[in-house]
Amino acid sequence: MRHMLNPLDFSVEEIGQLLDLATDIMHNREKYAHVCDGKKIATLFYEPSTRTRLSFETAMLNLGGSVIGFASADSSSASKGESVSDTIRVISCFADIAAIRHPKEGAAIVAASKSSIPVINAGDGGHQHPTQTLTDLMTIRTLKGRLDHMTVGLCGDLLFGRTVHSLINALSRYEGIRFVLISPPELRVPDYVREMLDKKNIPYKEVMSLDEAMPELDILYMTRVQRERFFNEEDYVRMKGFYILDREKMKKAKPDMYVLHPLPRVNEISVDVDDDPRAAYFRQVQFGVYVRMALIMTLLGVKKPC
Ligand code: NCD
Repeated sequence: MRHMLNPLDFSVEEIGQLLDLATDIMHNREKYAHVCDGKKIATLFYEPSTRTRLSFETAMLNLGGSVIGFASADSSSASKGESVSDTIRVISCFADIAAIRHPKEGAAIVAASKSSIPVINAGDGGHQHPTQTLTDLMTIRTLKGRLDHMTVGLCGDLLFGRTVHSLINALSRYEGIRFVLISPPELRVPDYVREMLDKKNIPYKEVMSLDEAMPELDILYMTRVQRERFFNEEDYVRMKGFYILDREKMKKAKPDMYVLHPLPRVNEISVDVDDDPRAAYFRQVQFGVYVRMALIMTLLGVKKPC
């Protein structure tokens, strides 16, 4: 039995196969409409979500399966003090696969260790968010035609943004990737990410100016300042308006530089960027459904139909 807890749980080759499957699903939706008939996914969300939870649920419904779960800790027995370990044992009796989001780092790993069904990490605190990364990889590969030889800028809350940590992890395995890490000093990537980049000799620079970085980027990954992970509101208020991508800044970018964002957006991308053909963040949401369909099939061992 396999889980998806970290993007590195799958080799580069396996990720390639998963993205191939997701691409086939994208082009042949009807072929996959019943491959998971009779299967259930449980979505265990202890933290708010719009896209990720509904994307998992849509993915399973598109495959012919069904969905159970809860959308907040308040509406689960967590509010009575039940542990994640006990909850997953119970859920293992009801569902065939589970996607879990939790505010504590490592919660999905704990769940997987007690689970008798595959567990997908749908975000654990400020740590990792592997299925957002699969979504990001599919978006980049579909729009740019490759995942290697690129300068990738990540901008905003690089400290608490789990999507950033997972994406850096995943992209660092492809040849010719260079990172430009754009943040205020207080929101730089955590040390373990920097150490990993140093150890693997991956070129990167840490800068503050988005304007200066724009011309060299092939991908710009914008992120929101993660208010819920700040220790005090004052720091959040100081940081939240630090970067705002607008039409003026887009003029400095390459004509084929795509803007990604895991969403939700707060104010870091002005709405006047939305109709720029390089704004890819809503297309990214659609790719997320296909990639989650491919992941559910893969973890359940469902074969690709002929
Ligand atoms: C991200 C998350 O939850 O980490 N959202 C998502 O899953 N698409 C990013 C965020 O909340 O800022």
